[in-house]
Amino acid sequence: MQPHLISYDLARGLHIIAVMAWVAGLLILPRYYAHISGSQRGGELEQTLLAASKKLTAIILTPSIILAWALGIFLFATYLVSDWERPLPEIAAAAPHWLLVKLIFVLGLSGYHGFLLAEGRRLAAGERRHSGRFWRIMGEVPFLVAIVVVLLATTKPDL
Ligand code: HEM
Repeated sequence: MQPHLISYDLARGLHIIAVMAWVAGLLILPRYYAHISGSQRGGELEQTLLAASKKLTAIILTPSIILAWALGIFLFATYLVSDWERPLPEIAAAAPHWLLVKLIFVLGLSGYHGFLLAEGRRLAAGERRHSGRFWRIMGEVPFLVAIVVVLLATTKPDL
């Protein structure tokens, strides 16, 4: 393996740390929304949790989704694709199927991330479209997706 900016193992380690932070943030935010949905409008609890949601997004969720994608693409572009001289369709066709399936789940998780941020803006504007129960159920989704993605990435099944 030719040397790159950072070693494969360091990039893989940083990638795993970034996705841990990302998934942790995606597990916490819906729980804040569940409590906001059950709180008194304009009350202290609502204000506290809205501020906490904003901080969680700025400090954890946004940096970690960017790092997870950047390091994932770096790993693919540097260690999984051996020769970039080939035409792109050929490179895409040679990508392992487990990674393509993984990317479908990760794109779903990125969409879920976007949905949470949009709902956060609505909650801050006083619009409560979903119940506490909805947010408690939705809060489990990132963990279920992470189970599938981690098993795809570690077992690399021959799909
Ligand atoms: C955000 C977009 C993502 C991209 C582009 C991406 C891409 C990659 C690539 C190319 C590798 C290296 C695979 C190899 O060495 O053969 C990798 C490793 C890994 N990824 Fe991701 N990934 C992403 C998100 C995630 C997420 C969300 C999770 C977990 C929830 C995850 C978990 C892992 C794990 C555990 C490994 C190490 C697997 C191993 O070497 O045993 N990735 N990823």
